[in-house]
Parts: sequence; C-alpha cells; structure tokens
Amino acid sequence: MSEERYLTFALAKGRLANKTMELFEKIGITCEEMNDKDSRKLIFVNEERKFKFFLSKGPDVPTYVEYGAADIGVAGSDIIMEENRRAYEVLDLGYGKCRMCVCGPQSAKELLKHHEMIRVASKYPNIAKDYFYNKKHQTVDIIKLNGSVELGPIVGLSDVIVDIVETGSTLRENGLEVLEEIAPLSARMIVNQVSMQMQPERIKKLIMELRKVSR
Ligand code: PRP
Repeated sequence: MSEERYLTFALAKGRLANKTMELFEKIGITCEEMNDKDSRKLIFVNEERKFKFFLSKGPDVPTYVEYGAADIGVAGSDIIMEENRRAYEVLDLGYGKCRMCVCGPQSAKELLKHHEMIRVASKYPNIAKDYFYNKKHQTVDIIKLNGSVELGPIVGLSDVIVDIVETGSTLRENGLEVLEEIAPLSARMIVNQVSMQMQPERIKKLIMELRKVSR
C-alpha cells in the first residue's frame, strides 16, 4: 500500500476546522502539527492514512473540491449553497448548526408581506436571490456586503438582511429580529466527483467511520 496516493482535505478554517479535527481524532486520525497555534504552515499530513489537510477560507473550500485540488472538503451548508460548485455532498456532520434567515426591524415585516420592492443586504447574494426570486417571486435589490451585515438596516443601507443566525444575540443587541427562515444549516462534507469514482472504497470507508462518530 506504500504507493497509495494522498487523499487531500480542504477545511474551512476556524471553528469548523477545529470541530472537524476533533471528529477525525475520534476515528483515530490525528495531526499533531495542526495544534501548533504559532505555526504558519498551511498543509498538515497524516502519514499513516496518507491524508493531507489544508485550511482555507470557507468560500474557497467548494472551489478546491470542484477542481480536484482537494478530494474532500468540509464547509458550512451556507457556503456550499452560495457557491453552488460541482461536488457530491455526502455527509451532514451535525455541528455548526444555525439558520439562514431574513432579518430586520419588526417594521420590515409588512414590506415582506406585501411583496414590495425592497433592498436586501447579504454576504450571500446567491442564496438571497434564489429565495426572493424563485421561492417568493418577489423582485428585490440585492446588495453584497462582506461582514457585519446587521449594519445594513441600522444605517439605512437596506430594509432587511439575509444572514446566519446562531444564538440570535447579534440581532437582539441591535434591535433586529428573524422575519423569515430560509434554511437550517450545518457542516457538510463534499467530495470531488472524479475522486469519488477513482477511490470509491477508500472514501466510502471514511464516510462510514465519520458517520458513526458524528451522531
Ligand atoms: C455571523 C453572522 C451573524 C452572527 C450570528 O457573523 O453573520 O452576524 O455570526 O451569530 P449569533 O446569532 O450567535 O449572534 P460572523 O461572526 O461570522 O462575522 P461577520 O459579521 O463578519 O460575518
């Protein structure tokens, strides 16, 4: 088995990557180097299983997987939905649970009800577009932001936002609330389509192992 090639994983860096490595530890796969907080290293290897892990910005994970630079990726379903890349979604890892919602001040509820032309600020323009255009059949003006999206309605940039709600405290502290729920979210594992065909046994074995411990 010494010629077995490496299976490469792209992990969305941050909390999700830490949770993912905890899960891998549960099935006996560890990566000592990854725990060194001072290291600027980008790629980590587990020689025993011939796994390589790298950390990337969340939205880049589906890109690495679609192009085959990573065989497998782990990212939030918000990112997977937004990026809409070609890959097989094979496993709900059960953590990173939150909701994609339309949020705003209570007064914006009426605007949503009457299908008015409104402004929607979001880090997720594709999800927002799909929801308003295809599901609600409402024409809206979508404004892309890169973070702190809650500012949108507060400073008068938009009427509502489409954003992730986890505990709801960011909304509460800023006088906003959930107006409509778009979808539940969690961490998902995706697989490159060619990798799945080339190494079905190896990948299926890993999925089975992870499924057992992620419940
Ligand atoms: C996310 C999201 C909300 C917040 C929700 O922001 O965009 O702002 O977390 O969490 P809560 O319901 O528990 O308050 P993130 O921290 O990723 O930063 P960002 O605003 O820069 O996107």
